[in-house]
Formats: sequence, C-alpha cells, structure tokens
Amino acid sequence: MHPDIERILLSEETLAARVRALAEEISVDFAGRRPLFVGVLKGAFIFLGDLVRHVTLPCGIDFLAVSSYGRQAVTAGAVRIVKDVDGDIRGRDVVIVEDILDSGLTLSYIISLMNARKPASVSVCTLMDKPDRRKVPVEARYTGFCVPDEFVVGYGLDYANRFRNLPYVGVLKRAVYL
Ligand code: IMP
Ligand code: MG
Repeated sequence: MHPDIERILLSEETLAARVRALAEEISVDFAGRRPLFVGVLKGAFIFLGDLVRHVTLPCGIDFLAVSSYGRQAVTAGAVRIVKDVDGDIRGRDVVIVEDILDSGLTLSYIISLMNARKPASVSVCTLMDKPDRRKVPVEARYTGFCVPDEFVVGYGLDYANRFRNLPYVGVLKRAVYL
C-alpha cells in the first residue's frame, strides 16, 4: 500500500466487480438505444474506461472538464466549463460519468448545461456517492458505492493531481493534506 494511504476503501477486485455490474445494468436499461457516455475529467477517466469495456451496446464517448471554485473561494459552488463535449448531444441519451458525488454542485451544473441542449435523456452514473455532504439535490441513476465523508484518492481520483494511478480507492492520510 502507498505510504500516504491510511486504508484501502475499495480494492481492485471490489471495484472491478461493481463496475462490471453497473455496465450490465446500463446495457439492459438502454437496450435498443445508443447512449453517449460523457466522462467528467479528470477524475472519471479510469472508471469510464473500465465501465464502457463491459457495456454491450453501441455507444458514444465524450468528455468534459469543469473547474470548481467550491472549496477555498468565497463564491462557493461556482463551476466553470474548461472543456466542453465535442459532439452534438441533441436527441442523445446522455450518461454523465463522474468519479464522486459530493455537494452535488458540479453535477447539478453539468446536468442543467446538458438539458439545455435538448438531449433525449440525461442520467448520472457515479462511482461513489457521499450522500451526507449534499448541498443541492442531485440523484444518480447509477451509484457504484456510498462512501463515508473522508477524503479518498486513487482509481482516477486525486489530491493535487497525485494518486490518480493507484489501482484501488484509499483514504488519504490527513497529514498529507493538513
Ligand atoms: P461536488 O460538486 O461537491 O459534488 O464535487 C464533486 C467533485 O469534488 C468530484 O468530482 C471530485 O473532483 C471532488 N471530490 C469530492 N470528494 C472527493 C474526494 O474524497 N476525493 C477526491 N476528490 C473529491
Ligand atoms: Mg471531479
């Protein structure tokens, strides 16, 4: 285990099994359709890569990147698009793929942005959810794991752009960020 990690929350095996189950559920729900998976960069890149490899439908893949001023700034919750999706989403079944749903501010912004473009549907697939932290109501149609209110890294998630490459999700030692 990495020395900055306090404990492993989701092992590689646990992640693989759950991600596969989510992909199977999505494949059933969207049978006969061609969903467009929109990954939220950067945190969702590994999750999206593993997820779509088990989706058995024809599908599209796109990405967007947002920057949040939520944590330190006074304008709590302001979200800004840094990279938009490349393709037209009108009439598409958009599945937003996110690493972790926390306050909900990021996703509620992305959902309204997508809805304004008249897709056929918008749903959310999040690897993790911290439901106790919600500031605005956002419901994911697909949730991998509900996790406690602790700072987690790995499997795409970072602290200061580090730890994304860990193959598991672990709780970061407090000494690393305090
Ligand atoms: P929200 O807008 O508060 O829901 O923020 C969600 C975003 O915050 C996620 O996409 C992550 O980038 C980041 N985030 C929230 N909790 C964690 C965590 O425990 N580890 C790493 N990133 C996190
Ligand atoms: Mg993120």
